[in-house]
Amino acid sequence: MNEVRGVVARAKGEPVTVETVVVPDPGVGEVLVRVQACGVCHTDLHYREGAINDDFPFLLGHEAAGIIETVGEGVTEVAPGDFVILNWRAVCGECRSCRRGRPWYCFSTANATQKMTLGDGTPLSAALGIGAFAEKTLVAAGQATKVDPRARPEAAGLLGCGVMAGLGAAMLTGEVRRGDTVAVFGCGGVGNAAIAGARLAGAARVIAIDIDARKLVWAKEFGATDVVDSRETDPVEAVKSLTDGNGADVCIEAVGRPEVMEQAFYARDLAGTLVQVGVPDPSMRVELPMIEFFGRGGALKPSWYGDCLPSRDFPALIDLYLQGRLDLDRFVSETIDLDGVEDAFHKMERGEVLRSVVVL
Ligand SMILES: NC(=O)c1ccc[n+]([C@@H]2O[C@H](COP(=O)([O-])OP(=O)(O)OC[C@H]3O[C@@H](n4cnc5c(N)ncnc54)[C@H](O)[C@@H]3O)[C@@H](O)[C@H]2O)c1
Ligand SMILES: [Zn+2]
Ligand SMILES: [Zn+2]
Repeated sequence: MNEVRGVVARAKGEPVTVETVVVPDPGVGEVLVRVQACGVCHTDLHYREGAINDDFPFLLGHEAAGIIETVGEGVTEVAPGDFVILNWRAVCGECRSCRRGRPWYCFSTANATQKMTLGDGTPLSAALGIGAFAEKTLVAAGQATKVDPRARPEAAGLLGCGVMAGLGAAMLTGEVRRGDTVAVFGCGGVGNAAIAGARLAGAARVIAIDIDARKLVWAKEFGATDVVDSRETDPVEAVKSLTDGNGADVCIEAVGRPEVMEQAFYARDLAGTLVQVGVPDPSMRVELPMIEFFGRGGALKPSWYGDCLPSRDFPALIDLYLQGRLDLDRFVSETIDLDGVEDAFHKMERGEVLRSVVVL
């Protein structure tokens, strides 16, 4: 048993607090990870606001890298001392999707079986089954993916959620090809990663759309060829006028709002693809004329975690990072400590950061 400090959301909308968290020693199939870095993702804030579910208290944090400290019985994938990125979709290999050869859709992903608790024994719900705004965390062995230890933990950890979701939304779900035109709606950590992914995949034109001018400056640094401030300009018209009146081959919604999803729907070229990577809350609805859905053809695709397969994609992307072809460092706006998470939420809401990263 380990007593560590961790960031807890106790009740809906209330500021998070740093609490003593009790982390059990790893049991069968589990590993104990010494967290080195964990990024602040919008999904952590969704948890705190009760937009994911009501299973308070939550142990937040899920974009992390660290070192395996101890492993439980039966763990062969990783060993103490390994540098790992944590993932929230440890695939089972046995469900109907895995058996069909589509493990990235696994319908039965694994988390640690034992619960981490508060000092008084209250069980914690770990955000996305990770809970890494803590000095140590307990996860299923498959949630820890070994990568090249030369990567900086602050940068590597970001692949554990938002950056992977964005890269994958473009490269895997959206299947961006050389020469494609891509429009990205919402240029936070996820959207800018989608821009970087579109560039890596060879997109000829990448149009970045946001309501915050600062985000558009960063979007250019990640490789956007054109930027649109959708407070001032109708983004559908703007995308069309930048594409000879046609629209983009792939439109990526990285905000999680119905009006943005509609913009992304209408900004597509015929037979284009809409990728939904922003997370909606359960109250949201989109209404589309069926004839528009049919008549425009193409595909509307939700993207869970960028359709990534951590064991395949994390090591490969870390190699690209180490070769200087994927600038993960650029996502790190600031490093903070555990006490800085509540503040980091406000900076995120004000649009001042791409990623605040807790360094332990
Ligand atoms: N699908 C997944 O697996 C997955 C993984 C991680 C995060 N997410 C989700 O992706 C979304 C983005 O996450 P993030 O960390 O980049 O958040 P963020 O807050 O850093 O970025 C959101 C961006 O959207 C912009 N925005 C807000 N309203 C807009 C509008 N109407 N039009 C255009 N832009 C607008 C903001 O200015 C900001 O730049 C969140 O909903 C998050 O929960 C999904
Ligand atoms: Zn499975
Ligand atoms: Zn996340």
